[in-house]
Amino acid sequence: MQNEPEPTDVRAASDAEAADTDAWHAANRLAWDEAAERYEGWLEEAISLIRTGGSNLFPVEMDLIGDLRGRCRRAIHLQCAGGRDTLSLWNLGADEVVGVDFSRRMLDLARRLTDATGAPATWIEADVLDVPHDLDGTADLLYTGRGAIIWLADLDRWAAVLRRLLAPGGRLVIFDGHPAEWLFDGDGDGGWTLTGYDYFGGAEISRGWAPEYIDRLSIPDEEQHPKYAKAWTLGEIVTALLGAGLRLQQVTEHPVDWWAGHRDVRADQRGRVPLSFSVVATRDR
Ligand SMILES: C[S@@+](CC[C@H](N)C(=O)[O-])C[C@H]1O[C@@H](n2cnc3c(N)ncnc32)[C@H](O)[C@@H]1O
Repeated sequence: MQNEPEPTDVRAASDAEAADTDAWHAANRLAWDEAAERYEGWLEEAISLIRTGGSNLFPVEMDLIGDLRGRCRRAIHLQCAGGRDTLSLWNLGADEVVGVDFSRRMLDLARRLTDATGAPATWIEADVLDVPHDLDGTADLLYTGRGAIIWLADLDRWAAVLRRLLAPGGRLVIFDGHPAEWLFDGDGDGGWTLTGYDYFGGAEISRGWAPEYIDRLSIPDEEQHPKYAKAWTLGEIVTALLGAGLRLQQVTEHPVDWWAGHRDVRADQRGRVPLSFSVVATRDR
């Protein structure tokens, strides 16, 4: 399952837990500060990638984002983690980049990446639902995804933030995990099998991380802070974006295995399942 642990310590959130946005996000902030340990191990690789003008983005993302040279004064990246994808936007031609994340430890890494590369970046420690208003209307490109949306408790508030950050004529690009991904897993023989996941089941609370992604940390799984996640359906995501007054230009489903969580599935089989999706949108009003 996407960004999810082996299901040894996972349970459904109660309705009251799922409705408590502050508690949900506070828990996730602690859990992501712990998980930043894994990103620290990737810093040298990130420095070398950015220094050599590279991009960590997938071809599908670069196609959506395009060449930013001369047409993007500011790119804002929400839930930027250690800043590698944010600075990839700089290498694609954004004049300056702004990364927003609520994990101080992630942003410490992003700052070290900036120091090592001289990138014109600003790092803002904030919940994505409370991005400071001085950024309103300034994003020529607003980018988010790659494991971002599942951590959020309130998509209507999130979509309202997306809308207010966009500059007139600015573009929103989302590339994230497809909620249907949670329904499928490798069968151990290169094909697919169904998981027990309930597509309409709601938020889950878990400890521990998938071995293909964060894996084990120095803190044992059972002592880690619990985290909340929800595979928001594509309908919920699109409806939130429309409700905020965003004009959707395209919504596309992709077989791209964006976190390599299904690398045990044969390539010919992988193409049968939507593992990621993208949205391109502008402001409607
Ligand atoms: C899977 S990571 C994103 C990874 C990023 N796309 C990358 O590859 O570098 C999720 C990030 O979202 C951040 N995050 C989760 N919930 C957040 C929230 N409510 N506000 C701000 N940041 C949040 C976490 O701290 C973490 O850095």
